[in-house]
Amino acid sequence: MDKLSIRGGKPLNGSIAMSGAKNAALPILCAALLSEEALVLDNLPRLQDIASMLKLLRQHGVEVSGEQPGPVALRTPHLASDEAPYEIVKTMRASILVLGPLVARFGRARVSLPGGCAIGARPVDQHIKGLEKLGAKVTIEQGYILAEAKRLKGARIVTDMVTVTGTENLLMAATLAEGQTIIENAAREPEVVDLANCLIAMGARIQGAGTDRIIIDGVARLHGAKHRIIPDRIETGTFLCAVAAVGGDVTLTGAAPRTLDAVIEKLREAGADISHNGDWIRVRNDRRLKAVNARTLPYPGFPTDMQAQLMALNTTADGAGVITETIFENRFMHVPELTRLGANIRIENDTAIVQGVPTLSGARVMATDLRASASLVIAGLIAHGETVIDRIYHLDRGYEQMERKLAAIGADIQRVKS
Ligand code: EPU
Repeated sequence: MDKLSIRGGKPLNGSIAMSGAKNAALPILCAALLSEEALVLDNLPRLQDIASMLKLLRQHGVEVSGEQPGPVALRTPHLASDEAPYEIVKTMRASILVLGPLVARFGRARVSLPGGCAIGARPVDQHIKGLEKLGAKVTIEQGYILAEAKRLKGARIVTDMVTVTGTENLLMAATLAEGQTIIENAAREPEVVDLANCLIAMGARIQGAGTDRIIIDGVARLHGAKHRIIPDRIETGTFLCAVAAVGGDVTLTGAAPRTLDAVIEKLREAGADISHNGDWIRVRNDRRLKAVNARTLPYPGFPTDMQAQLMALNTTADGAGVITETIFENRFMHVPELTRLGANIRIENDTAIVQGVPTLSGARVMATDLRASASLVIAGLIAHGETVIDRIYHLDRGYEQMERKLAAIGADIQRVKS
């Protein structure tokens, strides 16, 4: 397993380009199941999760052509298998996103239940309840969700909580349902909007994406389309946190600053100087930051996917920052690792109280999930001496060439192959 070796304490300067959004690309790849014609996607990030999704889609019968970073075309003339096997689903929970499209177009899907993961139990009951509302017969057998429907029928669905992939699954399913579907309490994340825009380009009739009420008028078939994936706001936010915490002056290009309001506000409150325009964003800092409080919320609130990175920033800020995680019940796995680097953090239920210390010192730490890994990279960049991060396959799932991008702006960071 590869490791990252970081020698911290070096300011970051220069300019780097942001990649396409992982969490927009994953559902949009699944949208290829909805049409027999080609869906051509640009700006797909080169990530392990994208490779896993392409592997899953190929075994369903999706024909994939083109090489990243160029456009990739996906065509699904017919179904090769309606089963999403445990072996693939267990490596990537987003596999659940094939459920809605498979039932909607082919009338049947057998998708492994994902099970719990490092950040929480993460049930998929809302995906299932929503599909049942749309008229699917759903049974659970031997760890698999079996969903069947001749043709889905439009319905009004009110989800119990805001769920991102739940909204995306039901949105895709409803595009081919008979009649109108209304999703109430829908997720408003930019990734949901990007998916809706791609589906609209394929001929779907959707209104209200980006609000908590999405209205879909089902159509008989969807056609091919070309779509460009939006920039990754969490990758961008992670680099913003790194530069703010370590110091320097960096411009991130190919970004979508408008999707980062809550993160930019927090970093400004902490004392970082941030300016942006159109598709670039510049962050500057040359002094000790002030600790900030944050509470994770569905979009447009502060994202849970940025919680660990903001915590890393707070570790050496002036004062105490209180961070509350409201989305996932077990998303503080980075705390014991940050503590190994000298951070002073106390956890009380869903809240972490971070008392800033003057500096961190390098140590060996272990990555436990994707965003936890990103927080350890930021802490390693802050720390004096060498930090070695083990199990960085987590990082490779969701950040494209993170160490190369950091090295390009002056970080002393190396991948150690094993
Ligand atoms: N939930 C349920 N039942 C459901 C669905 C969700 O109880 O049927 C709960 C979850 O357990 C959680 C909350 O609702 O407590 C919100 O979960 P959500 O469904 O929104 O999460 P997700 O769709 O599984 C996506 C991202 C995550 C991101 C969350 C929250 C993708 C592929 N994944 O997950 O991204 O943290 O939304 O914004 O879009 C990451 O990229 O590192 C990552 C974990």
